[in-house]
Amino acid sequence: MITVMKSFDYRDNELYCEDVKIEDVDRKVGTPFYLYSQKRIANNYRAFDEAFKEIDHLICYSYKANSNLSICKLLKEQGAGADIVSGGELYKALKVGVDPKKIVFSGVGKTQEEIEYALKSDILMLNVESIPELELTNKIAGKLKKKASVALRINPDIDPNTHPHISTGLAKSKFGIDISGAKEAYKKAEELKNIETMGIHMHIGSQITELEPFVDSLEKIVELIKELEKEGIKLRYLDIGGGLGISYKKDEKAPTSGEFAKKLLPLIKRLKYRIILEPGRAIIGDAGILVTKVLYIKKTKEKTFVIVDAAMNNLIRPTLYNAYHEIISIKKLRTTNSELRTTVDIVGPVCESGDYFAKNRELPEVKSGDLLAILDAGAYGFSMSSNYNARPKVAEVLVKKDRYRIIRKREDYSDLIRGEEI
Ligand code: LLP
Repeated sequence: MITVMKSFDYRDNELYCEDVKIEDVDRKVGTPFYLYSQKRIANNYRAFDEAFKEIDHLICYSYKANSNLSICKLLKEQGAGADIVSGGELYKALKVGVDPKKIVFSGVGKTQEEIEYALKSDILMLNVESIPELELTNKIAGKLKKKASVALRINPDIDPNTHPHISTGLAKSKFGIDISGAKEAYKKAEELKNIETMGIHMHIGSQITELEPFVDSLEKIVELIKELEKEGIKLRYLDIGGGLGISYKKDEKAPTSGEFAKKLLPLIKRLKYRIILEPGRAIIGDAGILVTKVLYIKKTKEKTFVIVDAAMNNLIRPTLYNAYHEIISIKKLRTTNSELRTTVDIVGPVCESGDYFAKNRELPEVKSGDLLAILDAGAYGFSMSSNYNARPKVAEVLVKKDRYRIIRKREDYSDLIRGEEI
């Protein structure tokens, strides 16, 4: 059993990432910046891998969570494949040297160019999400004189009890092929000359903190597999997607990868399929923080605003999903004395009221110049960032023991106009 150690912790009231004092990174890099712990990423990956060790499996790390090349490379070196959803992510996976036979490609709207790129790259399989996509894939494969290996993404119609924006396995959602039409879809796939039907795929949503929805979906999928076998359709891969949540709040307990595996293994062990897993958040979520500086404290009649130099363009999760991220000071402040705590909104400089990281949050008193860490920002943080308000994207830094390395440099103003014409 691999124990995952705390990688962000106070020493003498100063916040460290592994053996690096975060204040020192600020001196060199300047805020805002993302900071990741290499040990944490590797440990999270190994814990996941170990949890499934008794069965034949492949972990395809979900690039959309964070596709910084150094992070992808680190995971590739641990043995990870890639779960991708675009030509761009395929490009990145190949760039870091991921074996194409460890790449799976999902997405409801793959373009002709993307399908071609995937087939030419000989990836393990395309997770096909509709009959028209299947037909187009067949046509492109024919043109390329190739057989396209595919899995069909099946929508099991299960409610994962997560935010509606990240819930994907309900009948009303755009994802996958409705389970009621799955058998027909497989039959259709078998008829197509240039298609090799290799597997079955599901992915029901993200930030799922209960195990029942996974179990319920898998039961339906296993049932379907049995029916397909009766029809003479024998597959080799069962891709159970990603979605395992993490604990963003101290009092919230998300299942560990070990608990996740323990619950699912009895269902999939006897299938003798190669199991594919596509975790994103569970690998990188708690391995990254966003460090930001307090610019101003602004008191109005109604509220106290802590205005920081990071904004919704750097981390959009709070405003997009009403997501909670713990926010702590880089210097441990006295938190026990209630007089020193105030209720504040932590907001950024972007010109929108939706630009906030926390609302009505109790925080020890902070002042201009203080550094704050927004925790659990490793997944869907930088990868969802934008240049809104013509704000250059921030730097990303990777810590390994007592050393750190800039793995993406801060953008400058010239990056903002690249490709534009006057
Ligand atoms: N596989 C597929 C097909 C997916 O669509 C996703 C995520 C994953 C795997 C990885 O899921 P994870 O293990 O990270 O939950 N931006 C949102 C999350 C969107 C997830 C989209 N799909 C957020 O910030 O919460």
